Amino acid sequence: MAVTSRDAAILKVLSGGTCRPPPVWLMRQAGRYLPEYRELRARAASFLDLCFAPKLAAEATLQPVRRFEMDAAILFSDILVVPHALGQTVVFETGEGPRLSPTIGSVGLSMPGKIDLSVLAPVFETIAIVRASLPSHVALLGFCGAPWTVATYMVAGHGTSDQAPARLFAYRQPVAFQELIDVLVQASIDYLEAQLGAGVDAVQLFDTWAGVLGPAEFERWCIEPTARIVAGLRKRVARAKIIGFPRGAGVLARRYVENIPVDAIGLDWMIDRDFARDEIQSLRPVQGNLDPIALVAGGAALDREVDAVLEAFAGKPFIFNLGHGILPETPIAHVEQMLGRVRKFRS
Ligand code: CP3
Repeated sequence: MAVTSRDAAILKVLSGGTCRPPPVWLMRQAGRYLPEYRELRARAASFLDLCFAPKLAAEATLQPVRRFEMDAAILFSDILVVPHALGQTVVFETGEGPRLSPTIGSVGLSMPGKIDLSVLAPVFETIAIVRASLPSHVALLGFCGAPWTVATYMVAGHGTSDQAPARLFAYRQPVAFQELIDVLVQASIDYLEAQLGAGVDAVQLFDTWAGVLGPAEFERWCIEPTARIVAGLRKRVARAKIIGFPRGAGVLARRYVENIPVDAIGLDWMIDRDFARDEIQSLRPVQGNLDPIALVAGGAALDREVDAVLEAFAGKPFIFNLGHGILPETPIAHVEQMLGRVRKFRS
């Protein structure tokens, strides 16, 4: 078993403890807003080549930790390496986002089977390299996309704003869609187990598109598969620490934590903070939820938003983060301003 970051503040919070000031990391903290990332990115032919080059991916993982002394490193990879390891062709067109082919549901395409973890061997090598160079107070996070979110890309073949193609497919062919979700549940358990075996301390399940689902569909395509992943993973790795992030869940976030024993829940910036503190943080540690646009804005608005997040959540088990990934246009000075304010927080 790999050595893990047992004294990391984030792991204390995931066990129900409160830290003052709260630990902090940012979703998508490795990325284009950093000049050192842009330099690294230019050394790989494609984004996926970068994800599958262990030394470069390890360097991308460590860059934001070095620059900002974040409390967690998040594995540099992408949720779409899972469709790739299930046999779909995945390419990232510069400036256009991901393209997957052939799409699920297209004529003549059979359902993918079991995930081929050997395709993901470079990811586990990246984890081992990062693990070896990370101080013990910094947690290493692994991740995968939740089945619903990964399925939206596998069905549409690209990102959309409302995930209409996957929603249509799920209404028209619920049996076939359930089959796809089941494949992704098993693939996620296998993949996360291997990440934990390679040395990550905790994993996050990104359900970025949970918010486009109505209540019954949220139950069926978000809660139910995620609960199966959590149970299946804990059966294999009893100590597995898991953060769920059902972006856009709104009031359904309460149902999410009532039905899924995740160790913490990530909150987006749209949720009502009084509701989240009273109805969700009373049940489970929370992570979030600064508006990424406030971080772009900076100035007094950023200070105000940081204070509102801290005031709502910092008195109980809490990890400071954004409500979604950091945007490429974010000024580094604003990240420093935010971190300074979070780290000054004591009361
Ligand atoms: O958080 C981190 O720093 C770790 C790395 C990470 C990336 N993607 C790197 C990345 C993580 C955790 C992800 C998750 C991811 N990927 C999600 C879920 C969370 C979210 O942000 O919604 C989703 C939906 C994807 C799929 C994806 N990857 C899209 C739609 C795109 C294109 C949009 C964009 O931002 O360019 C990507 C590309 C991607 N993933 C980049 C990075 C750094 C940019 C590509 C590049 O640098 O060339």
